[in-house]
Amino acid sequence: MDPSSILLTDKVAIVTGGGQGIGQGIAQTFARFGAHVVIADKVAESGEKVAAEVRELGREGLAITTDIRDFEQVNTLVERTVAELGGVDILVNNAGGTRYAEFLDLGERGWNRHIELNFNGLFGPTDAAVRAMLDGGRKGSIINVASIEALRAAPMFSVYAACKAGMVNFTRSLALELGDRGIRVNGVAPDVVETPHLVEYEGSTTGGTAEARDRGIPLGRVGQVEDVAGACVYLASDMASYVTGITLSVDGGTFASSGWTRNSDGRWALFH
Ligand SMILES: NC(=O)c1ccc[n+]([C@@H]2O[C@H](COP(=O)([O-])OP(=O)(O)OC[C@H]3O[C@@H](n4cnc5c(N)ncnc54)[C@H](O)[C@@H]3O)[C@@H](O)[C@H]2O)c1
Repeated sequence: MDPSSILLTDKVAIVTGGGQGIGQGIAQTFARFGAHVVIADKVAESGEKVAAEVRELGREGLAITTDIRDFEQVNTLVERTVAELGGVDILVNNAGGTRYAEFLDLGERGWNRHIELNFNGLFGPTDAAVRAMLDGGRKGSIINVASIEALRAAPMFSVYAACKAGMVNFTRSLALELGDRGIRVNGVAPDVVETPHLVEYEGSTTGGTAEARDRGIPLGRVGQVEDVAGACVYLASDMASYVTGITLSVDGGTFASSGWTRNSDGRWALFH
């Protein structure tokens, strides 16, 4: 295998929610690996900032302010990407998020808001990007940013966990439909990742070993955006040309551990 197959040279990527956090890390890393990147964030200022960072890395960086829930905006996003950058090779469905809430505190509004963003929000960008990939006769890669909460029970995150679990099976199903048309569909499932969102809601994270032990993370540190971005580069690249339908855990081993962790005295115990 040619080592350059990990590169994304001149591929055109759209990253939804690319204005901060994990999406920003993916956009920057894609640019470092040679891709041109379109930042599709609903906050214009954040999108512009990250697009400028991409340009500083010597690649085309374009911010197209987009709310992924609005089909008209999403169609404009893809049309402009094709018109200005020549096509679409990679879509990262990253925009999403949640806040702690017990089911009984969600209410109909909270329930619907989660579903609109984390599940319905998959439709518009995926539909428009797949059509553009097929029209352009290009091979494509779609990457859905799920969560460890898609794979395990998640009290306080019930509706979010359900949306992300739906995303995982959507990933598999779409992979089957599009495989013989040259489009691969995969996902990533991060555990906790240190982002502005996390710091805002949980206080500062140190990323240190004590915190990782508290959270039961086997690799002994909290995830960083670069960890998720690296997995996305792999899935987007030709190095993963025979990989489709998977959701890759990027979680320091947490899901595999099923709660087993080493106590401060070095003994193994079930995490609680
Ligand atoms: N941070 C974590 O610990 C973690 C863990 C697992 C999975 N995830 C997932 O990773 C993804 C990114 O999370 P993050 O922590 O970087 O989030 P974040 O809140 O830091 O950033 C999300 C970005 O998406 C944008 N956005 C929100 N709604 C949008 C919409 N409707 N249309 C377009 N853009 C929109 C925001 O403006 C923001 O720039 C999410 O799907 C989240 O569920 C995060």
